[in-house]
Amino acid sequence: MKSFFVLASFVAACFAQGIQIGAPLPNSNITVGSNFTVEVDRPESLTGSEEVAIIIGINECPQTAAGCNDPTFDIQNNIGIVLYEGPFNPQFDNSTPPDHKPPHQNFTVTAPGTSGEWYLSVSHLSIVAAGNVLFEIKNETLNLV
Ligand SMILES: *[C@@H]1O[C@H](CO)[C@@H](O)[C@H](O)[C@H]1NC(C)=O
Ligand SMILES: *[C@@H]1O[C@H](CO)[C@@H](O)[C@H](O)[C@H]1NC(C)=O
Ligand SMILES: *[C@@H]1O[C@H](CO)[C@@H](O)[C@H](O)[C@H]1NC(C)=O
Ligand SMILES: *[C@@H]1O[C@H](CO)[C@@H](O)[C@H](O)[C@H]1NC(C)=O
Repeated sequence: MKSFFVLASFVAACFAQGIQIGAPLPNSNITVGSNFTVEVDRPESLTGSEEVAIIIGINECPQTAAGCNDPTFDIQNNIGIVLYEGPFNPQFDNSTPPDHKPPHQNFTVTAPGTSGEWYLSVSHLSIVAAGNVLFEIKNETLNLV
């Protein structure tokens, strides 16, 4: 049992290095051509990490039955329209009352003009403890309406 918890906390610590898309929620309806906020969360981690950059991209889902879940769709080579590229500087927002959000940064981006199912991705590059490179891509589906 004990080793399970040690393992679980180790896994949690590793995951905590990664980012999360805090907003919009997956499958949100976004009006075509409108501005919306992408909140990128970087949960606190035990080890220091140095943020390098993120890329926020949006692409139409494949026009197949599986759509966004099509296993042949490789997001790393299909980030689509780049909505933001550049530094990532997550901060606590110190709002009152406290919203208990992890350090995060909001990016205002403009939705494409074509309705349908789209794939929002956040590619994240950072340097974690002991000089390791962390590269990850998070994604979610949005409905452009
Ligand atoms: C998006 O819009 C559709 C159609 O109006 C609605 O059924 C659905 O509940 C909405 N989804 C969300 C997450 O609000
Ligand atoms: C979206 O934001 C851009 C840049 O801030 C601004 O120029 C544009 O007018 C905004 N569009 C809408 C629909 O609010
Ligand atoms: C970022 O956006 C989210 C969702 O819109 C909001 O709750 C949060 O307060 C914003 N954070 C900052 C620092 O503005
Ligand atoms: C997209 O996100 C889902 C849910 O987090 C995940 O299961 C899937 O592997 C991701 N797809 C890619 C191509 O990263």
